[in-house]
Amino acid sequence: MVSAAPAQALAPILRARAISKRFGNVIALQDVDFEAYAGDIVALIGDNGAGKSTLIKIISGAILPDSGTLAMRGSPVYFHNPRDARDAGIETAYQDLALAPDLDIPANLFLAREIVRPGLLGRLDFFDRRAMRERAEEHLRDFGIKVGSMEQRVDTLSGGQRQSIAVARTVFWGSALIIMDEPTAALGVAQSALVLDLMRKVRDAGTAVVFISHNLPQVFEAADRIAVMRHGRRVGTLDPRTATMDQAVSLMTGATTLESVSQPRSSQQNRGGNIPPS
Ligand SMILES: Nc1ncnc2c1ncn2[C@@H]1O[C@H](COP(=O)(O)OP(=O)(O)O)[C@@H](O)[C@H]1O
Ligand SMILES: [Mg+2]
Repeated sequence: MVSAAPAQALAPILRARAISKRFGNVIALQDVDFEAYAGDIVALIGDNGAGKSTLIKIISGAILPDSGTLAMRGSPVYFHNPRDARDAGIETAYQDLALAPDLDIPANLFLAREIVRPGLLGRLDFFDRRAMRERAEEHLRDFGIKVGSMEQRVDTLSGGQRQSIAVARTVFWGSALIIMDEPTAALGVAQSALVLDLMRKVRDAGTAVVFISHNLPQVFEAADRIAVMRHGRRVGTLDPRTATMDQAVSLMTGATTLESVSQPRSSQQNRGGNIPPS
């Protein structure tokens, strides 16, 4: 993609500011800033328990922060439930997929958002299965996802195909921002490549993408920016074109607390206790 200005020069599609969240005595997030830009893939990395899932659950309306604010395109937004976030164009693929295994592909793409035709004589509305199948087919074709028959139950698909359907659903509904929590965790190399490719297509179509992954090679391959979290804090931002995986690991593990290894612009301040990289 050729563009005159880097995506970050524009106002973010989504900006989270000073987000804090605790669960009982556990501080899951402390004063976290995060931003996602149109046409930009931001990877969110950090060790288990760093707060990644909590942050994206707040952005997708699944949980409420104790404090902090969210804004989209510069205007404050308040998400009280996932429906609010979805209505704002934010779509999330959680790690556990949340597909319905016994339903076919169109039914899964339209799960809980079925196309409905009014019933005759005021009777119950019914699902417009043909319309859903046609739109599902078209959408999967657009993204080069091959699944054989649309009438297959999802539990007959391979892991990679299932994940593709989950990602495709996210892409289908997410107009502003899509969030993917470990979308390639269960996939082999070829299937992962398909998912990364799909993410890039969505990015190039102008949607903001948040990509959570433990797979640093994939993160460095796909991301435009890397946000690093540790113990509930945002500890830095890396530019995958210039940073190394060692630097990413150092930030994740706290071997260094360098605020930003290679990206000069950042709103966050160092938070003390800095140990310079060796
Ligand atoms: N619903 C919850 N109840 C209690 N503790 C939670 C809950 N969700 C997350 N936590 C805790 O918050 C911290 C951050 O978790 P999480 O956001 O899932 O991290 P990550 O996704 O980076 O692995 C962890 O210590 C986790 O145990
Ligand atoms: Mg998680």
